[in-house]
Parts: sequence; C-alpha cells; structure tokens
Amino acid sequence: PVTVYPDQHAASKAVAGRIAALIKRKQQNNEPTVLGLATGATPVGVYNELVRLHKAGELSFKNVITFNLDEYYPMKPDAAQSYVTFMNENLFNHIDIDRANVHIPDGTVALENIPAFCVDYESKITALGGLDMQILGIGRTGHIGFNEPGSAPNSGTRLVTLDDLTRSDAARDFGGKANVPTKAITMGIGTIFKAREIILMAWSQKKAGIIKKAVEGEISGDVPATYLQLSDHVDFILDEAAASDLT
Ligand code: F6R
Repeated sequence: PVTVYPDQHAASKAVAGRIAALIKRKQQNNEPTVLGLATGATPVGVYNELVRLHKAGELSFKNVITFNLDEYYPMKPDAAQSYVTFMNENLFNHIDIDRANVHIPDGTVALENIPAFCVDYESKITALGGLDMQILGIGRTGHIGFNEPGSAPNSGTRLVTLDDLTRSDAARDFGGKANVPTKAITMGIGTIFKAREIILMAWSQKKAGIIKKAVEGEISGDVPATYLQLSDHVDFILDEAAASDLT
C-alpha cells in the first residue's frame, strides 16, 4: 500500500512510531528486534524521532540488532563520508544500543575476501531469524540499497558498481564526483525481500518521477524498486511532493 503524508516530518514520525512499537512488542516477549537500516537524507527524520523517544525515556535499544543496507567500497569506517560515520552521528551515538549488535558492511575488506564477507553477513541475518523490518530510501536510478538497474530479484549481499547518476547525486558529499567510490557492498534485492516488513520512504518532488515508476511502472530490473510490487508486505510512505506524479 501507498500512504501519503502532508510532509516528511509527519511521515517520519509515523515510521519512527512503527519502529518503536515493534521494538516494544518484541521487548515484552523478551525477543530481540532485528532492524534493517538505511542511510542518506531520507531516514534522517526517522532517526531524529527515535533519538527523541529514547531521550524522553520512552524507548530503549538494548535488545535491538541492526544491519545496514550498504557501504561504499573501499571506505574507511572513520572517513567523514562512510555510512559508519553517518549512522554514528545520526543514530547510534545518541541511543543505548550495544555496539556489538550493530552491523554495517565493511568497506575495508580485501577484495578477495568480499565474497566470504557477504556470505557471512547474510548468515548472521538468517541466524537471528531474519529482519523484522527493513527501511529503505530510493535512488533516482530506482535503486534500493545500492541495487542498481540490472540487479537480479534474487540477488544477495555483494560488491556492486555504482550507477553514474548515483555517483553524481553523491558528488556533493564527497567534494566532487571524481572522489565518489565506484563500488559499494550492498544487501541484495533477495535479502531485502526476506524482511517481514518493508518500508520504502521518499520525500520531495525530486523523487516523484522514480516513485511513479517504482509504484506503477512495469516490473523490471531496469528499475529495481519495481520488484517491491511483488511483495505483500511493502509500504510506500510518501510526502505529497513525492506522490505528486502517481495516478
Ligand atoms: C542508503 C541507500 C540508498 C538511499 C538512496 C536515496 O543506505 O541504500 O538506496 O536510500 O540513494 O538516498 P537519499 O535518501 O539521500 O535521497
């Protein structure tokens, strides 16, 4: 289903509320919550709200286990543009999560060890019983995670080559496109699909065109997000501007 909110603030609050409710429900049963997390501009409001709930004493992350979708490759964890730095600054530094429960693809793994690293990342998720919830943004190429056009619906965690448009969109963060890595390690479409709930968020007019394709377009590897149409547990959460091209 598609839900449209008046603005991204209201939408982010609603998504954070769903995450908080899931964590609390699991805590009551003494079960950990396994969350799939995204980076980028889109989920920042959700993370701000989760931090607010934590600081207000309403939410603990003590038994939350997280797996991030992706990381640039190569990338040092302490680099300003790493997704490790992003997650620390936007969420992990401000909550009570056990750092041992945080997983982000490692941008420093030697090239020859990446396949083994990726198999291990998948196994860790599976061993925990799978992702309870995966949150997603969407790139203008139609990527989810860094699954660019051409990605297979059953793809797993792997090393990928970033699309030219994705690197252009990241240029500002890196002080020029030439500095944007050409590769990344990402969970696959198949990995994302196995999550028990999937929430794809998109804000602003800039995303309206790709949202129309993702929600209403023909299902195709040319727009990887269209594969989500095949899932019965996906929610597209949009602001009015991102929804403005929908029929
Ligand atoms: C981030 C990720 C990407 C972003 C997408 C949108 O972990 O996997 O798919 O969600 O590139 O980025 P923003 O939110 O910056 O527009």
